[in-house]
Amino acid sequence: MIQVENLTKYYGDLAAIKDVSFNVDKGEILAFLGPNGAGKTTTMRILTAYMPPSAGSAQVAGYDVFHDSLEVRRRVGYMPETVPLYPEMTVRSYLDFVARLRGVDDCRKRVEAVMETCHVADYAETAIGKLSKGYRQRVGLAQALVHDPEVLVLDEPTIGLDPKQIIEVRELIRSLGGERTIILSTHILSEASQVCGRVVIINEGQIVAEDTPERLTARLKGGERVYLQVSQPSAELEAALRAIEGITTVEAKGDGGYEVESVLGADRRTEIAAAIVKGGWGLLEMRPVGMSLEEIFLKLTAE
Ligand SMILES: Nc1ncnc2c1ncn2[C@@H]1O[C@H](COP(=O)(O)OP(=O)(O)OP(=O)(O)O)[C@@H](O)[C@H]1O
Ligand SMILES: [Mg+2]
Repeated sequence: MIQVENLTKYYGDLAAIKDVSFNVDKGEILAFLGPNGAGKTTTMRILTAYMPPSAGSAQVAGYDVFHDSLEVRRRVGYMPETVPLYPEMTVRSYLDFVARLRGVDDCRKRVEAVMETCHVADYAETAIGKLSKGYRQRVGLAQALVHDPEVLVLDEPTIGLDPKQIIEVRELIRSLGGERTIILSTHILSEASQVCGRVVIINEGQIVAEDTPERLTARLKGGERVYLQVSQPSAELEAALRAIEGITTVEAKGDGGYEVESVLGADRRTEIAAAIVKGGWGLLEMRPVGMSLEEIFLKLTAE
């Protein structure tokens, strides 16, 4: 379980995150989605007690990251953006080393178990430096799991993997949910919707949306972009549409067709229809144009 309240972090004068609040329930997989520089890694470093916040608080597995950082670290598995692996060590000796460092009982058994879980058992005796990037990522995941943590914090776990490995790692993460509470960062929206039950979208250090992937799509689809066709296209019509509050773009598509976009969350179909009827331009058709998750993400993070 993770509870974050008004978390703020300054690097000098720069607020990398500002008043970030969200919760992750026990057993839930949450996606932390945002473009480069949004503040994902900063938030994760605070959640894993590697860095204190400037303001606000975070509870992880029942402990405060600032006041009980040791208890938090014991209960959290962290896969950072770049996992500090030792290239000359074998997979088994590295995981064994990490397990001992974290005071795991029965290290040998635990190491074998996580190597199985993360599908690296076949490479147990291979030097980490000789592994492909995908397998190194798996070792990164294995080290995060070796002390059997309640909470997993995964910073872009599929970055740099080939499509097949991406699918495998996503499946692996999904299979780890239920028992464990997981937060993973990504800038790929489809990844968030495939793996996670809920998505928090962060941009420039602030949360801009939070919902299930389904509701996020449903809520944002339809109202925002409308295709319409009239029998009497004219420049006045375009101007009249632009004058409606909340409408951002009007694009003529030829043959009296127009694509009209309004600000996120604003359904202006009633106003559009009224304006066209009033002007006598002959409304023939009006329908919402669905936006892909990627488009929604770009819109949310552009505003
Ligand atoms: N150690 C640091 N010192 C100064 N500024 C930093 C430091 N780490 C991050 N920043 C700044 O804080 C902001 C948030 O960075 P952060 O690494 O949290 O973003 P991110 O969402 O993880 O991005 P990415 O997708 O590129 O990994 C950025 O503007 C970044 O330049
Ligand atoms: Mg990052």
